[in-house]
Amino acid sequence: MAWEVRPTTNVEEFVDAVGAISHYFGSARDAERAERFSRVLPLERMHAAFDGGRVVGGTGAFPFQFSVPGAVVPCGGVTVVGVLPTHRRRRVLTEMMRTQLEDIHDRGEPIAALWASEEVIYRRFGYGFASFTGEICLDRGYATLREPQDPAARGRLVTLEEARELVPPIYDRVRVRTPGMFERTQEWWQLRNLDDPPDRRNGGGVKNAVLMEIDGEPAGYALYRLNLKWESGSSIGHTEVIEAIADGTIATQELWRLLLEMDWMATIRAHLLPVDHPLFHMLRYPRRMKMRLSDGLWVR
Ligand SMILES: CC(C)(COP(=O)(O)OP(=O)(O)OC[C@H]1O[C@@H](n2cnc3c(N)ncnc32)[C@H](O)[C@@H]1OP(=O)(O)O)[C@@H](O)C(=O)NCCC(=O)NCCS
Repeated sequence: MAWEVRPTTNVEEFVDAVGAISHYFGSARDAERAERFSRVLPLERMHAAFDGGRVVGGTGAFPFQFSVPGAVVPCGGVTVVGVLPTHRRRRVLTEMMRTQLEDIHDRGEPIAALWASEEVIYRRFGYGFASFTGEICLDRGYATLREPQDPAARGRLVTLEEARELVPPIYDRVRVRTPGMFERTQEWWQLRNLDDPPDRRNGGGVKNAVLMEIDGEPAGYALYRLNLKWESGSSIGHTEVIEAIADGTIATQELWRLLLEMDWMATIRAHLLPVDHPLFHMLRYPRRMKMRLSDGLWVR
């Protein structure tokens, strides 16, 4: 059976199309959240699959400016791909992928990129495995850097609102020379990185932002949460590094020192790290990061 697949034309369709993947997150239909999401994913970039007028699947493509070796190019950032359980394995995804790739091609975007929920899904649609990604869980007792603290470095906690001005220029300096990173609009920063709705804290503390200045100039930043927990009188809590980005070796080293040496935390966890992360060279016990590799970006 050939399914009707086309871009969404109104918020109702958009909410239903995003709802296909939300089903697997266990989320109720949330029109308000989906409407917010449509500010970073335009309606016409969200495809829906219909079965007799009812939406049964969806796939979106963010209009990204994406760094590749030596250039920044337009890219379809594929996202929120889902097919309702009532219609799985009946080629709904196949039909959606075909229509979406044609659309990406017609828009003159030379590449499409995505993070896959499962590694078996996208190869058949021409996507290739383009990067590894690393996840670490470092015992605080081994979180020691080889070099002493640099006197030029100063950390400064800022509010998420202050971060909106201070953080994007640092991100952009690193982003343009780092393949796989993409431009974030003001809206993206606000809605996806520098907000902190309580229902997305997963039981952890508030989202914090810290700026690392070198000789008084902003050179790095991190977003992190503290997850405090005690057992038998001792802390088993962890620092969750959401994002730590720095321009230059000293800024990287001092930013991570601040994150690694957080009092009361027993472990430091971070994910989405590049496989050649400088921490390997900076830590006294780099093996103790226990870096676990996985497939990262898939690109077509
Ligand atoms: C993954 C998902 C989108 C697949 O949709 P679908 O409509 O069932 O896929 P199709 O029927 O078009 O499948 C096409 C082929 O891919 C295979 N396939 C699809 N999803 C697969 C999966 N998760 N694991 C293994 N094979 C899969 C199918 O078996 C089929 O193989 P065939 O050509 O050899 O028969 C759907 O199962 C889903 O929504 N899963 C939960 C959310 C999710 O993981 N989304 C992806 C986010 S990145």
